[in-house]
Amino acid sequence: MDKSRIQELIQRAIDQMRFSYVPYSNFRVGAALLTKDGKIYTGCNIENAAYGPTNCAERTAFFKAVSEGERQFDAICIVGGPDGVLKDYTAPCGVCRQVMMEFCNPETFQIILAVSTEDYRIYTLKELLPLGFGPDNLA
Ligand code: THU
Repeated sequence: MDKSRIQELIQRAIDQMRFSYVPYSNFRVGAALLTKDGKIYTGCNIENAAYGPTNCAERTAFFKAVSEGERQFDAICIVGGPDGVLKDYTAPCGVCRQVMMEFCNPETFQIILAVSTEDYRIYTLKELLPLGFGPDNLA
């Protein structure tokens, strides 16, 4: 992926944090998910008074995309921080990694963790979820 595409994803993820609904943690997370045909679906975290129903930004992006008929993805960018201030990389939680495993090739799907458009790291899903259990195991 070229640098301008990466920076576009980072900026879209940063912009998305303003929609985060985070009355309990104040920790804003934004995500931007790139489909194989070049469309971007964004997501934010959405918390809940019962805590358990909270939806992470990554899953919001995936569920928006899948519910619109998308099934093929190249990359996701994730940003987050207290009150939306980006200081550290925000890595996806285990549940979100498993959702990625359902729809993405772990060898090639790119996970971009960023603190700015100039400061980011890219991992494959396989690096963040080694030996993942996915649809192939049930085939
Ligand atoms: N969160 C995400 O949205 N994505 C992650 O991968 C890590 C955690 C959210 C959930 C909750 O709203 C807040 O961050 C604090 O855990």
